[in-house]
Amino acid sequence: MGEIAKPVSSLGAIVEGMVKSAMSVALPPTFPNADPEIRRSERADFQVNGMMSIAKKLGVNPRVLAGDVVEKIKLQDQFATFEVAGPGFINVTLSDQAILSQVAFRLGDDRLGCPTASKNKTIVIDYSQPNIAKEMHVGHLRSTIIGDSLARVLTFRGHKVIRQNHLGDWGTQFGMLIQYLLENEEINPTKETSTEKVSSDISDLNRMYRAARELFDSDPEFVQRSRKRVVSLQAGDEETIDHWNAIVAESKRYFRQVYDRLNVLLTEEDAVGESFYNSMLDEVALDLEARNVAVRSQGALCVFFDDIVGPDGNQVPLIVQKADGGYGYATTDLAAIRYRAKTLQADVILYVVDSRQALHFKMVFEAARRAGYIDDKVVVSHVSFGSVLGPDGRPFKTRAGDVVRLIALLDDAVDRARQTILEKNPDLGEGEALLLAREVGIGAVKYADLSTSRTRDYIFDVDRMLSLQGNTGAYLQYAHARICSILNKFSSSPPIVRDDVVMEPPERRLALLVDGLPDVLAAVEETSEPHKLASYLYELAHTFTTFYEQCPVLRAPSETIRQNRVALCELTAKTLELGLHLLGIDAPNRL
Ligand code: ARG
Repeated sequence: MGEIAKPVSSLGAIVEGMVKSAMSVALPPTFPNADPEIRRSERADFQVNGMMSIAKKLGVNPRVLAGDVVEKIKLQDQFATFEVAGPGFINVTLSDQAILSQVAFRLGDDRLGCPTASKNKTIVIDYSQPNIAKEMHVGHLRSTIIGDSLARVLTFRGHKVIRQNHLGDWGTQFGMLIQYLLENEEINPTKETSTEKVSSDISDLNRMYRAARELFDSDPEFVQRSRKRVVSLQAGDEETIDHWNAIVAESKRYFRQVYDRLNVLLTEEDAVGESFYNSMLDEVALDLEARNVAVRSQGALCVFFDDIVGPDGNQVPLIVQKADGGYGYATTDLAAIRYRAKTLQADVILYVVDSRQALHFKMVFEAARRAGYIDDKVVVSHVSFGSVLGPDGRPFKTRAGDVVRLIALLDDAVDRARQTILEKNPDLGEGEALLLAREVGIGAVKYADLSTSRTRDYIFDVDRMLSLQGNTGAYLQYAHARICSILNKFSSSPPIVRDDVVMEPPERRLALLVDGLPDVLAAVEETSEPHKLASYLYELAHTFTTFYEQCPVLRAPSETIRQNRVALCELTAKTLELGLHLLGIDAPNRL
């Protein structure tokens, strides 16, 4: 995602900076910006791998080159040793002092030492995007969870994040639906609804939607009446608009329930649905035609692409205006991208939408570039994701073949979490158990999604999600709660970190891993891949376990060592808490 700010405050970044400036002296000036390829290493703390490929390009001996670079490194007192190894690696071993003073620095900083990105951008994230009058499905669940995590990480990185919930709230289907409702009067737009009723009302809407669709597909006269209704809707006819408003409000109440259950950042103000762009569509169509980006073809206004052809070998167009004058999904997206770039002044626009819409976005982005709606400086990206599968490995549906109701799915996860929690803590009150169960159950669902590489499909398996073993949200929450309870055994005053103490290998490993958080967050920004953060937290929890087994805290050999170990526990707990929070997952102190 464009140029990325390199954090300057992780030890890895400091080492990289030192090696790079030595390289700028040791390498010919024709070789700027070569990547030293610094990686964590088992033999030393870091390993510089890049010298071999650079030496090959320069036609010199890699060991000699590595030696040259090492010689040019400006050693700050006691920071690290650099050693040429093997065919031309450079091993970097940090001093204990450097690591411990970094631990102290992070612990004393309320951002745990994580810098903001060097360039603050305006980032629009289009996510969640359920459709009015329809049940939200698991695809919308993924978009909501991934989008929420990206919004959190990017905000934490110092960017201005503008959330856009591109609701499907406009289109010809509303003519059909409103007409059906008027003729069947199953819904009264002015009636009061209590919150408990909302989720059954959306089911009513969903059911009616299907009934309307059935009629539409079988009764040509109903089709005629529905078409007229679309015209009334577009013309702003009062009765029609009232019904439309009622349907939208009903659906939004339902979405609100899902968002509350999920505890995501989305608010009413973020709901900028397709209808918002309605008034811009005529102008966009005229403009695209005037710019010759779109051309008339069989009555329709289309944008063509050399490389996009159908199975018959003919080009597949992006349709801006149908032959009957109507606009569709694509036109709205063209108006939206222009609005986001020109009015919202976005530097980056992310679309968190399932991978089946890849071609649509490819065409929209390309058309928008040709029309000048986005220039070279604006980064647009389809943050695509795979499907959620049922236990049978097929797309997730109920037995009757319906979409699975999200509320039911989430409630089920919370309910099972409550059972597990009560089994483990029989004397917990019902109220507290439920509170914890919400954090664990929802956290489990979110983590299962965010811990898989987003482009992959995954199986929705609540039992696995809630398991305390393996890479699960519950495992991480327990790891965090366990460290909190360890810390409770010590005095509440903050530990004093002494940097003149010799560190054990498990302490070094833990401290260095904790130190990598800013780099991980930068990588999440660069790739829009929250799973990098999830894997990091999992590794952190694991590494902590080894540390805790091998480095006793309570029975530490000396009070100084004990204090340092307490500091490591505390920093690990805070890192887990922050990391989970950035994934949108709560980290209760006790479980
Ligand atoms: N509402 C659409 C759907 O359910 C997704 C919208 C994605 N966003 C966009 N700007 N097209 O498939």
